[in-house]
Amino acid sequence: MSEKVEVKPVAEFEDGDREILTVNGKSIGVIQYDGNFYALSNTCLHDCGPVCTGRVHEKMDGEYTGTGKPLDWSHNEDEIVISCPWHGWTYDLETGEHLATDDIQLPTYEVEIEDGDVYIIVE
Ligand code: FES
Repeated sequence: MSEKVEVKPVAEFEDGDREILTVNGKSIGVIQYDGNFYALSNTCLHDCGPVCTGRVHEKMDGEYTGTGKPLDWSHNEDEIVISCPWHGWTYDLETGEHLATDDIQLPTYEVEIEDGDVYIIVE
C-alpha cells in the first residue's frame, strides 16, 4: 500500500534545493532542479552513502578522438544526473539508472504537487 507524504511547500524550494526525509525507515531525497522535482533513495547502491546530498549536474559525454588523445567532453543538457559525494557513483536524476551499468538502478519515487505543496508517494 502506498503512502502520500507531504514534503514542504513548493515556494520553499530554491533551484538545486533538496530535502532529505525518512519514511518507513527509508531515507529519501527530494530535489528541485531547473523547475522540476525528483525523489530518489538517499542510500547509494555502492556503499550506502548519502547520494542525494551529492552534486546535481548535466551529464558529461566524452567522444573518442584517437589513441593517446584526450576525450572531447561536452555537456548533455537533456540528461541531469546526481553524483554520490562518497565515491562518485552517478545516477540519472529522473530514472535512478546508474550511468555506467544498466543493472543498477536507484529507487525513485513519484512526486506530486498539490495546492502549492510537494508530496512524494512511497510504497
Ligand atoms: S557510497 Fe556512493 S559512491 Fe560509494
